[in-house]
Amino acid sequence: MSNRAKTLAASIAALLATGALAACGGGGAEAPKETATAEAPADAAAPAADAATPPAADAAATPPAEAAPAAAPVELDITGADGVKLTGDPAAGERVFRQCMSCHSLKAGENKTGPSLHAIIGRTAGQVPGFNYSDANKASGKVWTQQAMFDYLENPRAAIPGTIMAFAGLRKPEDRANVIAYISLHDHDE
Ligand code: HEC
Repeated sequence: MSNRAKTLAASIAALLATGALAACGGGGAEAPKETATAEAPADAAAPAADAATPPAADAAATPPAEAAPAAAPVELDITGADGVKLTGDPAAGERVFRQCMSCHSLKAGENKTGPSLHAIIGRTAGQVPGFNYSDANKASGKVWTQQAMFDYLENPRAAIPGTIMAFAGLRKPEDRANVIAYISLHDHDE
């Protein structure tokens, strides 16, 4: 009997040592619990993420909604060749204005090769302080309405013979309308 008891005890000891009993018993019961607790936070986090998504989407949608009016066509006081009033796309006009930027700034008092175009719309030609205009520009008698600028920018040297603005012009009416829409929105402080 005592030998059998020793053998049984040794067997149990061996099982305990390998962890087989622990795995089948307590360990087996704990494992599902751990899985359940691991899933619970994941489930809880998922609705939280969902709840956070709509405000994030709203926030992301807001800037385009605000940007939309700025990109909307601007009605211009310009009559095109076909007698129809033109509109301009200021976003496209900003790209056209890159051709002007080497010589012109829209900031007040910032003269480069060309005079500042700050508040240019509606101003008489040749009036920017500190800029050395040609006599041709100063004597042109032009008032830079949108229409006058539209006509001028097609071919500046034909519109004001003797101008020192070394710019070939914008052949396409839509380029002129777009750049004037951009200038009209940005030639003054907000
Ligand atoms: C290479 C330089 C240069 C480029 C490029 C240029 N300009 Fe000029 N611009 C001048 C100069 C110089 C004058 C002054 C002309 C004069 O005195 O005869 C001028 C004059 C003007 C004037 C008249 C300003 C005033 O106070 O009477 C307007 C308007 C104008 N430019 C618009 C533009 C626009 C819009 C563009 C781009 C589509 C452009 N310019 C591109 C050099 C440039």
